[in-house]
Amino acid sequence: MNHKLFAAIVTIAVAAPLTAFAKGDIEKGKIASATCAACHGEGGGKPIMNEYPILAGQHQDYIVAALSQYKSGKRKNATMNGFAAALKPDDIQDLAAYFSSQPSPLKNRY
Ligand code: HEC
Repeated sequence: MNHKLFAAIVTIAVAAPLTAFAKGDIEKGKIASATCAACHGEGGGKPIMNEYPILAGQHQDYIVAALSQYKSGKRKNATMNGFAAALKPDDIQDLAAYFSSQPSPLKNRY
């Protein structure tokens, strides 16, 4: 097998699963996160108060679940119910992709 063909196959084999599971657009999430920064801080890593959770570096699925539950009302918090109500499912995916990708003060990652 020649090298270029081999490289192409490896690239497809490695990239395909990532593409299949990657949901959410980090760049769109960054734009949508401007409102969130007022409380959760720039990139979600520096909340303005200790009571406000750090979003940076949390698992993407966890952020999606939290925002979906605020939106549906399953998880109750007056502030976040209000903000999540305005989010579309795609916004939730984008925000989760963005915050999960940010440098985080959380220690116990992997
Ligand atoms: C006015 C302040 C404020 C703003 C603005 C705000 N949040 Fe929050 N957020 C909070 C507070 C307070 C909590 C904790 C609520 C609770 O106890 O459930 C929270 C919780 C969360 C959680 C759950 C975190 C966890 O660890 O379970 C997520 C996810 C979240 N916010 C995302 C967002 C996103 C995305 C935005 C922007 C669209 C946003 N927040 C805007 C104050 C805010």
